[in-house]
Amino acid sequence: MKNVKIDKIIKKKNKSKLICLTAYSKNFSKILDGYCDIILVGDSLANVLYGMKNTHQIDVEIMIRHAQSVKAGVKKSLLVVDMPKNSYLTTASAQKNAKLILKKTGCDAIKIENTVKNINIVNAIVKSNIPVMGHIGFTPQFKKKFKVEGENSKELKKLLNLAKKIEEAGAFSIVLECINKKSSKKITQEIKIPTIGIGSSQYCDGQVLVTDDILGLSGFYPRFVKKYANLDQIIKSAVKNFKKEVQKGIFPKNINSF
Ligand code: KIV
Repeated sequence: MKNVKIDKIIKKKNKSKLICLTAYSKNFSKILDGYCDIILVGDSLANVLYGMKNTHQIDVEIMIRHAQSVKAGVKKSLLVVDMPKNSYLTTASAQKNAKLILKKTGCDAIKIENTVKNINIVNAIVKSNIPVMGHIGFTPQFKKKFKVEGENSKELKKLLNLAKKIEEAGAFSIVLECINKKSSKKITQEIKIPTIGIGSSQYCDGQVLVTDDILGLSGFYPRFVKKYANLDQIIKSAVKNFKKEVQKGIFPKNINSF
């Protein structure tokens, strides 16, 4: 089925690059809205917000809560919500959970992390008229140890085959996470749907990063992240000033009182 919003925003090669950032709450999404083609409620919130060691404990309910908050700040951007690990183990549970996420949050699409074993899941969700974004390469729901993917021709062949299968299953785009430059270029050239890279080179059709990382809030700065601001310093300085002024009796003043 055609989806007008997705068709309008998601365009392949020779158009301008797709811009995607994560948001976990309204205060961020209302700033990102309109600058980003896509806002992703990523399950990275497990590590970034909840301080968990991986994304595996996050469930559908938590994703729905955060997506509802994010949705409250979104007017223009395409809103995509990650399906947490274990929420799409069977086609029936995948369809049920994807429908629930859409119904409760009003998001436009869902994202799932892919292996060769879950292509049928992409297909089943697409068949229930829910747009799907795929995700290949370093997929934190399935891989324990960080590794750059697609480093040799055998790995490239596997990734390319997987990307083609996801495309055939009806996904509208694919995140390429930490895939070697040559391989991400080849995958981007070979498939028709846009690739959105994270740590996967300039050759992807778009880029995604975790907003807390680029703002200097997460303390996580691997090579593929660029820190565009030091919000931690700005927040520290504001909190220090508040503390100083309260202790010295400068705040609150009469004007701040009733
Ligand atoms: O969970 C997430 O934030 C993601 C992006 C890093 C692509 O999947």
